[in-house]
Amino acid sequence: MAEDLNILNGSKEDQYKNLLPQIKGLLEGESDLVANLGNIAAALKEQFNFFWVGFYLVKNDELVLGPFQGPVACTRIKKGRGVCGTSWEMAKTIIVPDVEKFPGHIACSSLSKSEIVLPLFKEGEVVGVLDVDSSSLDSFDETDKIYLERIIELIKF
Ligand code: SME
Repeated sequence: MAEDLNILNGSKEDQYKNLLPQIKGLLEGESDLVANLGNIAAALKEQFNFFWVGFYLVKNDELVLGPFQGPVACTRIKKGRGVCGTSWEMAKTIIVPDVEKFPGHIACSSLSKSEIVLPLFKEGEVVGVLDVDSSSLDSFDETDKIYLERIIELIKF
């Protein structure tokens, strides 16, 4: 795997299609979870320039901040709280077009306007979430859901 990411300008789908095999390459032969989550967050940030992209991992029945790219963020989130805690509780991907309209949304930054959160599974259990935030409203759709789910499927816990 070359050290530099090949960045593509194009449709969102083309960008994900270009990125997916590169992320696969980054993870191949590396078993360390923190290293792999760090590189996934960096690759997504570099390609899409998301406001915030990172992981929360379940530890002692809380989500605890993991590798991320972007401004400093809340460190602990309880089950059922905010978008992340709700995604964990429901074991479902959640797309929030306008964070101000999501009851209980946790505002780590007032600049974050829309968000997608995907649960991470290990043997059927949610072991964490991937959270991606945008500084624009309505940034995430089914394309993000499909490709981000493919990306997180590559993670070996
Ligand atoms: N907004 C999230 C909290 C995490 S930060 O956005 C990085 C939530 O409501 O769960």
